Amino acid sequence: MTNKLFQMKPIKMGNGFYIKPITDFEDFSKVIDVFKEWPFDEPLTLEDKKEEYNGYLKNGLCLGFYHNTGDIMGLAGLMHEVEEEHEEYFAPQAGKLNPFYIYGLATLPEYRGHGVCTTLMEVIHDIALENNIDFIYLRTQLEGSMSEGLCRKLGYTDMCQNSKKIVQTVTFERGTTGEIGSDDRQFLIYPISEEGKEILVETGAIVPEKSKVKKLS
Ligand SMILES: CC(C)(COP(=O)(O)OP(=O)(O)OC[C@H]1O[C@@H](n2cnc3c(N)ncnc32)[C@H](O)[C@@H]1OP(=O)(O)O)[C@@H](O)C(=O)NCCC(=O)NCCS
Repeated sequence: MTNKLFQMKPIKMGNGFYIKPITDFEDFSKVIDVFKEWPFDEPLTLEDKKEEYNGYLKNGLCLGFYHNTGDIMGLAGLMHEVEEEHEEYFAPQAGKLNPFYIYGLATLPEYRGHGVCTTLMEVIHDIALENNIDFIYLRTQLEGSMSEGLCRKLGYTDMCQNSKKIVQTVTFERGTTGEIGSDDRQFLIYPISEEGKEILVETGAIVPEKSKVKKLS
């Protein structure tokens, strides 16, 4: 039995393409394998993939973007919670807010640049509104991220702690060599509700954009 987010109806796009929760692990597996490739080089064993997919089934949502042939083109996976290892970045007052954490975004290389991921993100925003979500956040690479520009265009802003941009150094195993590598990640955040926005600003998780109007001297 999956959680209620997985019970949403498929969304038909004009050209016969559609978006729906991924209920076939093989579809998920096919897309998520992009993280085995350059520049990610993640080991991603079958067990890793099953664990991630089961996490979505239990407490999140994994949306697939499908071709009119029924082939999967891309996905967006989210968890209905703040990840345990990110809790320290949020002030206690933010604990009462209802979040989505976007854990995985991927489009198969042959379908990139046609709005698959942007459309999935827009659908997630609608689902967030319907489910009284207060904010959405995600983690991207600090340098060379493929999703940062896309998210900023959608209105995402830097996630901060005490008004200072958060940079997290992450260590990971390289899939091809087994070596341990490390790199820096940043967080982007998007308030959905008014209360979410207020609390995130008050607690320094979001720094409102400085006025672009020059002060008169
Ligand atoms: C990020 C990703 C999911 C975008 O999917 P997509 O369906 O091609 O995205 P869209 O067509 O909706 O949007 C394209 C936007 O993505 C961004 N983008 C795509 N490729 C990029 C790259 N190589 N470098 C920087 N930005 C890139 C740009 O902002 C681009 O907008 P533009 O076309 O106006 O320049 C896809 O490139 C991908 O699967 N990358 C590998 C996995 C990944 O990086 N996931 C995110 C981890 S948080």
